[in-house]
Amino acid sequence: PNAVLGLPTGGTPVGMYENIRKMYQEGKMDFENVTTFNLDEYLGLTHDHPQSYYYFMNQNLYSGVNLKPENINIPSGTASDFEAECKSYDAKIDAKGGIDLMILGIGPNGHIGFNEPAEILSGPTHTVDLTRETIEANARFFDSIDDVPTKAITMGVGSILKAKKILMLVSGASKQKVAKELFSGDVTTNNPSTLLQLHRDVVVLMDEAADGQ
Ligand code: GLP
Repeated sequence: PNAVLGLPTGGTPVGMYENIRKMYQEGKMDFENVTTFNLDEYLGLTHDHPQSYYYFMNQNLYSGVNLKPENINIPSGTASDFEAECKSYDAKIDAKGGIDLMILGIGPNGHIGFNEPAEILSGPTHTVDLTRETIEANARFFDSIDDVPTKAITMGVGSILKAKKILMLVSGASKQKVAKELFSGDVTTNNPSTLLQLHRDVVVLMDEAADGQ
């Protein structure tokens, strides 16, 4: 009842949020003492922008359950000082005793949150330049590819791996290649999701299209 949750956006978790709202309406879930921390947000999009992750979360979860506004956390894409915003986001997570359950999706290039494939990955919350591949993959939610923000703020791989338990949802044929690497036994920053192999409590839920069998 007093869980601290780490939450994702994207097409994959839409069904999960629908079920959570339904279970809440049926009295099977209570968010009175639950705290949520979202993984990431686009830079430059305000809460009322329909493609901001805050807007997505409000539509899919916040407006449908009894979360207290003060227990809802999402990194700000419009902060005046991003360095301070990143530091205070990780500090807020620590002050809550860390994340109990981190729910993740995965990008077609293996990104988790917005931790893009790179030679060096950042541990704490930070701002990132999105890769062309991610901008193309997420363009489906925008009127035009030119409207997709090119930067984001995201929990780092360190913030993610500190969670006590991780649940990863993998959906769709575009995830086949990176999903296979997830179970390869190799850990590489070229596919940030492979770092999950270093965590001792991860559950992966994958659909048949992503599994490709
Ligand atoms: C975005 C988010 C990720 C998410 C990914 C996959 O890029 N930053 O956290 O996992 O999309 O989204 P989808 O489920 O739509 O494939």
